[in-house]
This record gives sequence, structure tokens and C-alpha cells, in this order.
Amino acid sequence: MVILFSPASIRRYVKPAVFVAALGPFTWLVYNAFFGDLGVNPVETITNYTGIWTLRFIVLTLALTPLRWLTGFNPLALFRRMFGLFAFFYGTLHFMTYFILDHSLEFSGLWDDVVKRPYITAGFTAFVLMVPLAFTSTQGWIRRLGGKRWALLHRLIYVIALAAALHYFWKVKLDTTNPLYYAAVIAVLLTARAVRTLSRRQRSAA
Ligand code: HEM
Repeated sequence: MVILFSPASIRRYVKPAVFVAALGPFTWLVYNAFFGDLGVNPVETITNYTGIWTLRFIVLTLALTPLRWLTGFNPLALFRRMFGLFAFFYGTLHFMTYFILDHSLEFSGLWDDVVKRPYITAGFTAFVLMVPLAFTSTQGWIRRLGGKRWALLHRLIYVIALAAALHYFWKVKLDTTNPLYYAAVIAVLLTARAVRTLSRRQRSAA
């Protein structure tokens, strides 16, 4: 058990297995698209499905650090970049489905939506903010920016999570139960971080 959870074996066995599992939703989508099994409105199905998986990977990425504090299991940090990049992957699929299949790559229609529909404004904000995080997720960028500036930039994940929760909440008009569940989990995760940062500051001031 201990050997299985050593950082080396996590890198070698667990990470590839998690990577394949994270491709599961994409595989499901391709499989069902191939067999024409995406319901009466395939574009809506693809948009909603990729949207919810984007949100799930954002939540998973946010959850890793508090889970590490709680369990003391530091190798969890090895999954942060992978989950973040999967959030960006599903986010890109989500946005491209909307932009290509709904808007036929027309920027004016996209911009009209971004300006006039608050749930699109929130989703677009979340997606645009994900771009610099995805592109600076490598060791090379950590070196180039310096640890402190890199960490500051990557705090954008908090804004992304809030905008994404708002996007989902505003999109769903009738039953807001699921968006509220996601918003509650995000609120707990952000509060845990805020409490820890405050108590650390207090301790170092003392
Ligand atoms: C981090 C970025 C984003 C996240 C986490 C996200 C998440 C979601 C979620 C959870 C849903 C609803 C799924 C459901 O009802 O089952 C959704 C729907 C939708 N999203 Fe996003 N979204 C993001 C960005 C965007 C962007 C950039 C756009 C377009 C500019 C967009 C357009 C839409 C549309 C049009 C729907 C409704 C689809 C329909 O009902 O036909 N989203 N999104």
C-alpha cells in the first residue's frame, strides 16, 4: 500500500490511470455522437455535458489543496495541473460547441450574447480567465514568472470558480438545486482557503 502511494509509483501508475479516467466523459461523448445517440437536440446535449464536466474539473482542482491539508496526503498536489488542464480541455470543447455549432463561428453573434445575456457574460469571463492559467501551467512558466507572481496569477482560479458557478445558476431557470449544490461546494472550498490564509497571517504576525 505504502509502495503504491509513493510519489514515484503515483507518477508511474496512478497518474496515467487518472488521466485515462478523466478522458472518460470525452470518450462517452464521441461514442454517443458516433452512434447518433445524443438525444433530440445533440448540440444542447454536448453543450450541457461539456459544461458540467468543465465545472466538475474546476471543483476537483480547487478541492485538491484542502483535501491535502485534511488528509496530510501530499501527493495529491501531483494532480492539480492535470485536473486544471482537463477543466480547460472540457471548457474549450464547451465553448467551441457553442461558438461553432450554435454561432457558426460568427464573432458578432458571440459578442451580442456576451454583452446581453448575463449567464453568457459569466461563462465567457470564466473561460477567458482559464486561458492564461492553462498556458502558464508548465515548470518553465513558473521559472519565468517567479514563484510568487505565478501563484498570484493562478489565484484567478477563485474568480473562475465563482464566475462558473454564477454562469450555471443563471443558465438554469427553473430547478436551481444542482447549481446551488455546486455553488455550496465552491463556497466551502474557498472559505477553507481564506480561513487558512488568515490564520497563517495571524500566526506569523504574532
Ligand atoms: C469555465 C467556463 C464554463 C463553465 C464551467 C460552464 C459550465 C456550464 C454548465 C454547468 C452548463 C449547464 C449544464 C446543464 O444544464 O446540465 C452550461 C451551459 C451552457 N453554457 Fe457554459 N460554461 C462555461 C463557459 C461557457 C462559455 C464561454 C460559453 C459561451 C460563450 C458558455 C455557454 C453555455 C451555453 C449556451 C449553455 C446552455 C446550453 C443549452 O442549454 O443549450 N459556457 N455551462
